[in-house]
Amino acid sequence: MSTIYDVANVKGFIRMCNDGWLQGWHERNGGNLTYRMTDDEVAEAKPFFEEPREWVKMGVRGENLAGQYFVSTGSGKYMRNVLEDPHANIGIVEINETGDAFRVVWGLANGARPTSEFESHYMNHCVAAARTDGADRVIYHAHTPGIIEMSFVVPLEDRAFTRILWQMMTECVVVFPTGVGVVPWMVPGGPAIAEASSELMKTYDTIVWAHHGLFAAGPDFDTTFGLAHTVEKAAEIYLAARAANGGSDDFLNKISDKGLKDTCRDFGIKINEAFVD
Ligand code: 13P
Ligand code: ZN
Repeated sequence: MSTIYDVANVKGFIRMCNDGWLQGWHERNGGNLTYRMTDDEVAEAKPFFEEPREWVKMGVRGENLAGQYFVSTGSGKYMRNVLEDPHANIGIVEINETGDAFRVVWGLANGARPTSEFESHYMNHCVAAARTDGADRVIYHAHTPGIIEMSFVVPLEDRAFTRILWQMMTECVVVFPTGVGVVPWMVPGGPAIAEASSELMKTYDTIVWAHHGLFAAGPDFDTTFGLAHTVEKAAEIYLAARAANGGSDDFLNKISDKGLKDTCRDFGIKINEAFVD
């Protein structure tokens, strides 16, 4: 291990930041990413850690991930710049033993802080890890334009949003069979949006932040990026199909509820029954 960038998931983290930038989801400092490191990765990365900074109290507490380490993008930092200068734009933070404070142990150079959405990320990590028996390690927030546009024209309800997305592309229901949760517009960056999102994270791995973007959880970068990509593509298809249909979503053809259920049956996946008739 000659640099911290040789730790596989530090490299993967940097790649995912750039992947999101290339998709056009990260104007300016928009969006953020966190990854919960494994014990082995922490051991590999520790020789490169720097003098720990002071503890910073969070407005939330999550005991099940106390003492863990997260890679996080920086607040006000641009995804566009991560690949070129990771040390300035991302960092590693340690959570204290009571699960209510963090401190920077590597990166985020010149006094930068982890994302302003760190409280949301941390609370959602706590809930997603509990829901998946520790499997989920990635939380990704992106300013996906299709999802933002959709939030202006469809009801801000879990069922309505999910059904539209499932109907847009055959494999959507396979990729997110539980559906998506919807948080109404809220002030970003603080404990209130963290609490609202983590309540939905008990059920869903994908959450729409109305007029803001997407919040997605998963076990690794491929799955989480793939989830966000699939949801966003479905949203864009909906908007294009609706525009091509004179603004109406009363489409001539669409995937039936029976089709959605048959797909899940054949793929051996459990669909969220509350969202199909
Ligand atoms: P940060 O730069 O603090 O990560 O904020 C960006 C963002 O998208 C807030 O929702
Ligand atoms: Zn945002």
